[in-house]
Amino acid sequence: MTPQAAVHWTKNPPEEPVGHKLGASSGRLLSIASRLAREAALLPALADLSERCWTRIAESESYEAWAIGWPPRGSIDLHDHGDSAGAVFVVSGQLTETRLVRGDGGRTCAEVTSLFAGDSIELPSWCVHDVVNLGSTSAVSIHVYGPKLRSMTYYSFEGESLIPLRKVSW
Ligand SMILES: [Fe+2]
Repeated sequence: MTPQAAVHWTKNPPEEPVGHKLGASSGRLLSIASRLAREAALLPALADLSERCWTRIAESESYEAWAIGWPPRGSIDLHDHGDSAGAVFVVSGQLTETRLVRGDGGRTCAEVTSLFAGDSIELPSWCVHDVVNLGSTSAVSIHVYGPKLRSMTYYSFEGESLIPLRKVSW
């Protein structure tokens, strides 16, 4: 698919860089992710993989939850979550998130966060990020999206511009 024209930060992030690493009690979606991380009996099946794997483990009218297994070097490219907000809870292993935020002087820059078992982050609806497992063992994480995830757009980041590459809808 031919890349679309470059756009400058179409997701309307807040003006200030976001410190998005949260405590355990922050937010409804995060609360759901944390609860599911403790209850999901199928998670061991995601712990020893050769490629990234995901399965939906819960849904309601207002949200859905996925368990994702990440082998070492398993990753997802820079993307958004359509109109959904979300939360991620790391069950095991470690993940590295790179998120585009507004930095000094309004410049768009990448903010890197290392996440270990028990860590969690929120995903505001403007969030554009990528995630990779840079650890030596597999990682498992719970992802909750509300409203339910209906599209994702993948991007490249060149200079200070986000360039949409492809949109996946379902
Ligand atoms: Fe994501």
